[in-house]
Amino acid sequence: MSKKILGISAYYHDSAAAVLVDGEIIAAVQEERFTRKKHDHNFPKNAVEYCLKEARIEPGELDYVVFYEKPFLKFERLMETYLAFAPVGLRSFLMAMPLWLKTKLHLPSEIRKSLDGRYKKRIVFTGHHEAHAASAFYPSPFQEAAILTMDGVGEWDTASIGMGRDNKIELLKTLEFPNSLGLLYSAFTYFTGFRVNSGEYKLMGLAPYGEPKYVDLILDKLVDLKEDGSLALDLKYFNYCQGLTMTNDAFGRLFGGPARDAESMITQREMDMAASIQKVTEEIVLRMARTAKRITGANTLCLAGGVALNCVANGFLLKEKIFDDIWIPPPAGDAGGALGAALFVHYQLLDGSRSAKKGDSMHGSLLGPRFSNEAIRGVLDSRNIKYRYYDDEAELLKDTVDAMTGGKVVGWFQDRMEFGPRALGARSIIGDARSQEMQSEMNLRIKFRESFRPFAPSALMEDAPAYFDLDRESPYMLLVADVRKDQWCTLTAEQRSAMKDPDLRKRVNVKRSTLPAITHVDMSARIQTVTEERNGRYYRLISEFKRQTGCGVIINTSFNIRGEPIVCTPQDAYRCFMASDMDVLVLENCFLRKEDQPQFSDKERDKYIRSFKLD
Ligand SMILES: [Fe+2]
Repeated sequence: MSKKILGISAYYHDSAAAVLVDGEIIAAVQEERFTRKKHDHNFPKNAVEYCLKEARIEPGELDYVVFYEKPFLKFERLMETYLAFAPVGLRSFLMAMPLWLKTKLHLPSEIRKSLDGRYKKRIVFTGHHEAHAASAFYPSPFQEAAILTMDGVGEWDTASIGMGRDNKIELLKTLEFPNSLGLLYSAFTYFTGFRVNSGEYKLMGLAPYGEPKYVDLILDKLVDLKEDGSLALDLKYFNYCQGLTMTNDAFGRLFGGPARDAESMITQREMDMAASIQKVTEEIVLRMARTAKRITGANTLCLAGGVALNCVANGFLLKEKIFDDIWIPPPAGDAGGALGAALFVHYQLLDGSRSAKKGDSMHGSLLGPRFSNEAIRGVLDSRNIKYRYYDDEAELLKDTVDAMTGGKVVGWFQDRMEFGPRALGARSIIGDARSQEMQSEMNLRIKFRESFRPFAPSALMEDAPAYFDLDRESPYMLLVADVRKDQWCTLTAEQRSAMKDPDLRKRVNVKRSTLPAITHVDMSARIQTVTEERNGRYYRLISEFKRQTGCGVIINTSFNIRGEPIVCTPQDAYRCFMASDMDVLVLENCFLRKEDQPQFSDKERDKYIRSFKLD
């Protein structure tokens, strides 16, 4: 009898569901993609429904339903923290209570209700970091590996070191709340004016503009960092235990004034803070990894938890060569907890046998909904939308590349949607990475963000070493590496002075390499390596781009506008295409040109853009 397991993560951020059948990952998806609410934390009703449908399972046929953390333990942490600070913190405590009393403490009945009362068996709760560790190790290409998980906080744990061997994992050492690398990083995210649990990526992208001049201050005042990577935070500078903010006035005094207001001008202080906390993060990750090596003796490492999305720290760790190889699941944050929890039940509790697959077992993370040509044509025809249908893939790819080399921005919608925060060529906006204008064009006309960050490259695996200092795969955009020196441009005096401009967009727009749209100001890039086996048509598209141009690298950014979850359906894609200045939309074999479409009025466009909260 095959074992069918449903994993769920919810009620913090990035709710998700995943289904395993006999250990095989059949489907996994974040709830935000259906509800169109970024980082949606509500119960993932739509995600569960999709996963069961994809696996052709009725709720009653499930063997196990598993939730990615232990709510009572988490509640205990909440209570103990409140009592330790009481009466301070009453307000945040009272704000948190209704959701706990209404849903979180009644999870089994919530889950059963969402499965229409048709699931009668046990509901399992794994530990939060057990779920992270499972998501890191079980799908990895390693039969044996050390495991390092780092995030804000689960129940009590904020980081763990463990060992995975065959089908079992064991957590050997943990760090506990309130001491947390994730919360420390989020405190800086908050203070520099970005959104916690969302803007961490921006803070990481801001770091190359700054000088790490606050490193000593951070290590002196905020963090007591031990040799083994464990740490103690000085809580007199933080407010997350008792308040509604991450930091307090004392924190501000350390950095010369109050927190930056969201959307206001980014100053040198924020850049220096970003550079400093990045450096401190890298040092902490490095020490934790060394400890993991010492305790386990393993040659390979798996990483998970929100901090593992810090691809700059991952790239740094790889360079330090503590481990021969590192693997990070594409949904390294809490969404991946749904998958990890399901894997934990299959292997750890039910003793399912496991042999690591070459590459990994994530199927390229293409685990979400797919729409057939028939379904897409049905949508387009019903709305009288003009498009050209291609029977021949080669012709479709040739015309797509023609558009790209002609400076057009292309919405690329193919295959099953990606699981995890990155677009990997299934729901992507793509363009010519050699173009100097492409970056600002895409930022302003397509994504509506005044970004200081460059875009990420997708490179044919076999061509990546010619452009980047990377000697291995990076299939999920979770490693940063330098653009090779022979691709760098010599800067003119004028360009050198533009690199000091207070307007960061001017700096990032200086042509610093042969691939200006994807080269960061510190000459690094957040690489996705692409293979035919994993990426199918996306690989063939970049191959066609190479055939026409000699260059096996393109720009890949997620198919959404600012604040919007990545598009899921053809309808989402068409709306986003129409509301932005994208020139071409390719929905499987259907090719749409903007000039053939009716005009979207400014009012319609405005309404669309405003419907998403700034992230
Ligand atoms: Fe987590």
